[in-house]
Amino acid sequence: MRIAKLFLSILFVVGLTGASGPASPDVDLDVQLADGSTQKVHLTFGEKPLDKLTRDDVRAMLTISLGDQAAQLSSEERTRVEDEIVGHIQSSLRYKKSPDHQHWHFSGPLGTFDRMALQRGYQVYREVCASCHSMDLIAFRNLSDPGGPGFSEDEVKALAAQFTYEDGPDEFGDMFDRPGKPSDYFPNPYTNENQGRAANGGALPPDLSLITKARKYGPDYVYALMTGYDKPVPPLVEMQVGLYYNPYFSGRQIAMPNQLFPEMVEYADGTVATQEQMAKDVVEFLTWAGEPKMEARKAMAIPVLAYLFILTILMYMSYKRLWRNIDH
Ligand code: HEC
Repeated sequence: MRIAKLFLSILFVVGLTGASGPASPDVDLDVQLADGSTQKVHLTFGEKPLDKLTRDDVRAMLTISLGDQAAQLSSEERTRVEDEIVGHIQSSLRYKKSPDHQHWHFSGPLGTFDRMALQRGYQVYREVCASCHSMDLIAFRNLSDPGGPGFSEDEVKALAAQFTYEDGPDEFGDMFDRPGKPSDYFPNPYTNENQGRAANGGALPPDLSLITKARKYGPDYVYALMTGYDKPVPPLVEMQVGLYYNPYFSGRQIAMPNQLFPEMVEYADGTVATQEQMAKDVVEFLTWAGEPKMEARKAMAIPVLAYLFILTILMYMSYKRLWRNIDH
């Protein structure tokens, strides 16, 4: 009975904390009235979510909270107070949203990569992301490594040969251009960091080799980021020039515009290239790039556990045998 009660109260607390979502902030303010006195005001924005609030809502809430004293507010003081409340809401709207959890083929203790998704993901990276983002740690030959996208060696040769690399010096001391080889690392879209920044309004597109390891919520985050551009800009948010609204990015304003438009790539296996599909595929590919030996690591788990299990039984049997004539 007691346990049941405890369980119910835990459920209740979890329900309370889980259900509310991003709560509207309460604001406490001192307001100067016309007669010189100061009035403390406590504002709650009730049910309306922060990203729907407008300046008119703020004005209405202020009037309601002040009650009879609303008439005593000079117009300058009213504007000051409204600005303060709006500033408060704006700073709450700079916190990034946590991404939703997606179902990934590779998650879980025995999860593996989906070869076709990795190949499609490579295509999305190559045709869409690679014009801005480098992946310095991956070489073309990795694309045929076990546990990876599973391209054949000939396919990898063809993929590498699409690019031109500077090599040399030759016997005359000159540098020369040659087609890419499987041992070459992915080419960088920019020759240096300044060029990358100059092409992107001052923001440097980060190298994507380890991006799913480098960000909290890894794959879920990158997926949410790539599909998170359709949200309307909240009425109270002022957008900076050259930035795009994306609630999953820290600060919610990002220098990368939306990248994935339906059917912008044509998949060889006939999969329909919706935005979600391309985002899923490219994230799977980036996750593999961040941990190319993941499948080998997970495959070790079963033999290791089996070994430990057998060892435990042997240890137990030897313990029984050694102590069999001794009282204990
Ligand atoms: C037109 C250039 C451009 C293209 C194409 C592009 N990006 Fe970006 N990306 C950027 C810029 C610029 C930033 C840095 C944004 C910032 O710091 O505000 C960025 C940042 C990112 C980030 C890091 C966000 C963070 O948390 O720091 C990820 C992840 C990302 N891009 C993924 C992708 C993927 C995946 C693709 C391909 C589907 C892609 N990008 C295509 C320009 C681009």
